[in-house]
Amino acid sequence: MALKLGPLSDVIGVEATGIDLSRPIGPEDRAALEAALADRLVMVVRDQTLSPAQLLDAVRNFGPLKAQHLTSLLLAEHPEIAVLDSRRTKVGADGRHVAIGARDWHTDHAHQERPPNYTALYAVSLPGAGGDTSFANMQAAYAALPAARRSELDACTVITKIDDRYSEADDKAAHREARRHPLVRTHPVTGRKAIFFHPGMVERLEGREAEESHTFLEALLENVISPEVTYRHHWRPGDLVLMDNRGQMHVAHQDYDLSLGRVLHRVLVEGERPY
Ligand SMILES: [Fe+2]
Repeated sequence: MALKLGPLSDVIGVEATGIDLSRPIGPEDRAALEAALADRLVMVVRDQTLSPAQLLDAVRNFGPLKAQHLTSLLLAEHPEIAVLDSRRTKVGADGRHVAIGARDWHTDHAHQERPPNYTALYAVSLPGAGGDTSFANMQAAYAALPAARRSELDACTVITKIDDRYSEADDKAAHREARRHPLVRTHPVTGRKAIFFHPGMVERLEGREAEESHTFLEALLENVISPEVTYRHHWRPGDLVLMDNRGQMHVAHQDYDLSLGRVLHRVLVEGERPY
């Protein structure tokens, strides 16, 4: 079995086959995966069968693991894994499950001082149809803008806040103070610049009122996220998806029955301060 890498779309995403991450891999394969991920920002490793412990070892190929902040989601025996189970969500007034997070295009944990370099999602249970995840190459989105617009964005600083949906005391305590990060961050491996923020975690842009800031950012995403820079991932059993949070944004399509029990295991890899 030899590692094979191929594009998932023109602009973002790479598919990796012929590799079994339940066992240690060699330095050449590790380097090839790392390089492909830095270049393509999203990697789908197909046909994996991973116990929680094996999943953690698989993700450690990409760096040290990062502790997660929503403690109610953590797997008891392996707290580095958050269990994203569509049934473990709040039930709304109409009796239907209300999905947590991921309602809009976002970058994971962009409010943190050191956001995770990578988010890994492993498909544990995928009942029924729907539940795709779309990814946008925010480096390509940025690069396509006119120079004057890029300069304007380069000068913007985001002042972050804790998402209202996060009610857990530990998360609030860890991020009580407003932090800031550049709206455009540079990828340390490729040097490419990307538009970077989590709309739910933005208090405002520096020098602008909150309402004006949100209008500005909403219009920005509307303007730059087009089919030309996106890839829609249809999950298959055994998929391990790694996303580079320094260059992509994503959205989870919630077009499925949440009560069916769609389960993903999420692991985070430590990151650096955005610059
Ligand atoms: Fe996300």
